[in-house]
Amino acid sequence: MDKLVIQGGKPLHGKVPISGAKNSALVLLAGALLAPGESVITNVPNLADVGVISEVLARIGVRVMMDLTTHTIRVDATDLTDTPPPYDLVTKMRASFFVLGPILARLGYARIPLPGGCSIGSRPVDLHLKGLRSLGAKVIIEHGYVEAQADKLIGGPVYLDYPSVGATETIMMAACLAEGTTVIDNCAQEPEIVDLAEMLIKMGARIVGAGTQTITVEGVSQLHGTVHDCIPDRIEAGTFMVAAAVTRSRLTLTKVRADHMQAVISKLQEAGVGICVEPNGDITVDGTGEFHPIDLRTQPFPGFPTDLQSQFMTLLALVPGTSMVTETVFENRFMHVDELQRMGANIKTEGNCAVIQGVEALTGAPVKATDLRAGAAMILAGLAARGETTIGSIHHIDRGYEDIVGKLSAVGAQISRAQRKEVLV
Ligand code: UD1
Repeated sequence: MDKLVIQGGKPLHGKVPISGAKNSALVLLAGALLAPGESVITNVPNLADVGVISEVLARIGVRVMMDLTTHTIRVDATDLTDTPPPYDLVTKMRASFFVLGPILARLGYARIPLPGGCSIGSRPVDLHLKGLRSLGAKVIIEHGYVEAQADKLIGGPVYLDYPSVGATETIMMAACLAEGTTVIDNCAQEPEIVDLAEMLIKMGARIVGAGTQTITVEGVSQLHGTVHDCIPDRIEAGTFMVAAAVTRSRLTLTKVRADHMQAVISKLQEAGVGICVEPNGDITVDGTGEFHPIDLRTQPFPGFPTDLQSQFMTLLALVPGTSMVTETVFENRFMHVDELQRMGANIKTEGNCAVIQGVEALTGAPVKATDLRAGAAMILAGLAARGETTIGSIHHIDRGYEDIVGKLSAVGAQISRAQRKEVLV
């Protein structure tokens, strides 16, 4: 397996174009299943996870044409079937489970492998299933599969005990073709929910309230294909913002949406990182100033995103003074702490809290990416550290960062991908 090799301490400068959002692209591709005919999704990032969902779609009768040089995917779901997608594909990537709602809504029956837990927590799907049951589906879990059946879904009230992103998306998609009105209360408000709603509305769905805590969906009998442009990846953008900060550099991010990043921008400013939103929407990050310790707490949007917690931990490891990070979204999302400690970070964890005592410098070391975002934190640590860092298990990083080596190299980082044997000799 490949590794990343980073010579740390190089200042960065220039512009970084931000790719389309992974978490939007995956659910938009599933949303396209709700209609016969072709949908075209643009600004799709070229990522391993997009390859996985495309393969899932191909296995259930959907024609998928990817042109990832133009970042466009055409999906024709006219011949959608209820054949269960392969177990190993769904367990490889949890977002494959997104196909459940659309298949059930269109065909009246769906059988999908139950995705397991993952390295950041147990990640149940009870809220997705509770929502579908509220729409009248009979749902059972048997032999490792979720089996859902409803000749006709019937709209109704759905209260989510927690504003789960995936559950909100599953229920919103299913409700589009239900009979009557569905009101989803305490739903997620993430920009990816709004993006999905906007695509579904273009497909003929009647949805109001996306981006607030109550979404109302009035069911229609059929949807049609559309063309939709995926929003920018706010997590990739946040990762590059931290890259500028930890290398004490100035970077400009292009093709980005500052309105999706208020909590992140505000926390960076509190830590002493300069942020300027340019009149054209670009964001310039200035990491050359004086840093201050901060406390942060992950929360559902508009709170601080859990997907940037590990990257901020790398930054705070280098900020003089004591910072505190509280993770409230996932139960086991501190795996990067051990790896950061190998590079000299001073971090203590107690339950879901981490207390970070800033150090003067990190030192390069062999580390591994324990999950996607933890892997990003390791890259950031490697960019800031003295000496060489090698990062293993980078298949996690390939899931969610398009051409990270190319993008960082283009702004001055010394980072390369090496075959395992090259690293070992
Ligand atoms: C999505 C994102 C992921 C991000 C997360 C939180 C995608 C593909 N992934 O994941 O990158 O970290 O939102 O912003 O969009 N929960 C339940 N029961 C459920 C569903 C969720 O208890 O049925 C719990 C989870 O275990 C977790 C919390 O709710 O503790 C948040 O999960 P959720 O918002 O559903 O995240 P995902 O949609 O899986």
